[in-house]
Amino acid sequence: MSIHSCPDPHRGGETKWTCVIPGMPNPGVAGVERSEPPERRMLGAHFVRPQPPENSRNHAIPFRRASAAAVTQHGSPARLVCAIAWFVTAIAVGVSVADEPPTRPAEPPAGRDPASAAAIVEQLREFREELPEPTILGMSDLAAYEEHALFVYAAGRLAAASGAQAETRWRHLLLWKPSLLIMVDGRPTGTTLDRSRPHISAGPVTVDCLVVRSAAGPGSRRSADGDATEGEVWIFRVPASEAAPLELEATVGDAASTQWTIQAGAQRVRLTGVVGQPGRGLLDAWSMDGAPVLESRLLPAGILPHGRRGAEMLARWDASYRGEQRAGWDTGRVASDLRDAVRTQLLRPGRAVEFGCGNGTNAVFLAQEGFDVTALDLAPTALAQARQRAEQAGVQVRWLLADVTAPPELEPVDVVFDRGCYHGVRRENAQGYVAALRRVTRPGARILILAGNANEQTGSGPPRVTEQELRDDFSAGFRFIHLETTRFDSATADRQGALAWSVLLERL
Ligand SMILES: C[S@@+](CC[C@H](N)C(=O)[O-])C[C@H]1O[C@@H](n2cnc3c(N)ncnc32)[C@H](O)[C@@H]1O
Repeated sequence: MSIHSCPDPHRGGETKWTCVIPGMPNPGVAGVERSEPPERRMLGAHFVRPQPPENSRNHAIPFRRASAAAVTQHGSPARLVCAIAWFVTAIAVGVSVADEPPTRPAEPPAGRDPASAAAIVEQLREFREELPEPTILGMSDLAAYEEHALFVYAAGRLAAASGAQAETRWRHLLLWKPSLLIMVDGRPTGTTLDRSRPHISAGPVTVDCLVVRSAAGPGSRRSADGDATEGEVWIFRVPASEAAPLELEATVGDAASTQWTIQAGAQRVRLTGVVGQPGRGLLDAWSMDGAPVLESRLLPAGILPHGRRGAEMLARWDASYRGEQRAGWDTGRVASDLRDAVRTQLLRPGRAVEFGCGNGTNAVFLAQEGFDVTALDLAPTALAQARQRAEQAGVQVRWLLADVTAPPELEPVDVVFDRGCYHGVRRENAQGYVAALRRVTRPGARILILAGNANEQTGSGPPRVTEQELRDDFSAGFRFIHLETTRFDSATADRQGALAWSVLLERL
């Protein structure tokens, strides 16, 4: 193995290094510059299903059942461990985790009879036992989770170390399908590679395990920037389907800029700022010819809807921010009702959160008006556009990829704004929405919701809510300051916007 390190002039002299594992075909990468990131185009790449490896088939392995059960049980480490163990099992036998479990036993893969497939699974179970501590075990709860056509991501707290000084450390796991599992613990700050358990094999499966340790050795130490701690990156790969070398590049800087680029077959996967509490990290990927495979996007801050219905919902919302045409609600202008509420001081600057922020027009406005803004949405493409908008406007907003009914832990806020999210979410989970609203607000907080109005007479338009439904949803725990009829702003001057409610609540 060779390691090449040099100061990166583009990052103020931070260390950038490249490593090549020996005994594998040398790609000539030693010492080469990192590939240029892909151009920011092809937003539609998000839900492209990857080509399965040639020997990939759906087995009669209930992987989705195992993983979905694991993630719906918040705080159940045993189930999470089980799910992650299944990642390893599934990737090794080529199961596509984006697929539903077959309703009847699937055909065995070509060239393998059912008996030998079962034997492989059995051997994989043994292999699981072989994994070195604490590679898979040790997550005490599950804080963030996303299933995507290209990857599965999970993050949670590591079980507290013993002793009075124990502090929270976070573990991030990224399964890049079909055969790469990346685990980031804490914030690796060193440039030492450790291959003390480099090559594990059990039956037909071998895993290369590359451990990046802090220069000061493994363990957990608080660093200058708060919750970021020194830690380790582990990279597991099942090379059964690929003979390409395992290659890693790292730029170790502050918490936001630390980057890991890992080659996965013909693709390069990059993690940026994946440290500490979930929600800040970015993921992108591109192929060796530079074509984007996954545009730079946030990793989730909470548990996203998953399973077939969850995936469909995410895909639907995300799709509405791609393509040439703007979504019907996207006027590109700040909502008039919000502007008025700020001008008349119904809403005053303080800590604010926007639910279902879309591509960020209103969140950026609030930040410009002096609010300390966190903005949530479950469409990564909308958030990518929102981040760009904030950058252009020169304001700071905390963008979080999260479900409003399962938001991450936030400091209680003074203001909540929602335009067009509540009226859709309530159809599935009104209780979850209201509970989340209570959780994120402090007593006395003000909440402005703009929702479709059931008195609208025209046939099409946004979801609609009756006055009674609003009162039923919010009367316990909130006081109505006003409940007024208004109209959504129209995207075009020649059309009137749909009838809406302007609901201003105070949290009791
Ligand atoms: C009608 S759009 C409104 C967007 C934005 N508020 C605006 O006015 O332009 C609804 C937004 O809510 C988001 N959304 C829907 N369900 C959500 C959920 N459960 N959690 C977070 N965001 C959600 C969608 O992705 C979408 O961006």
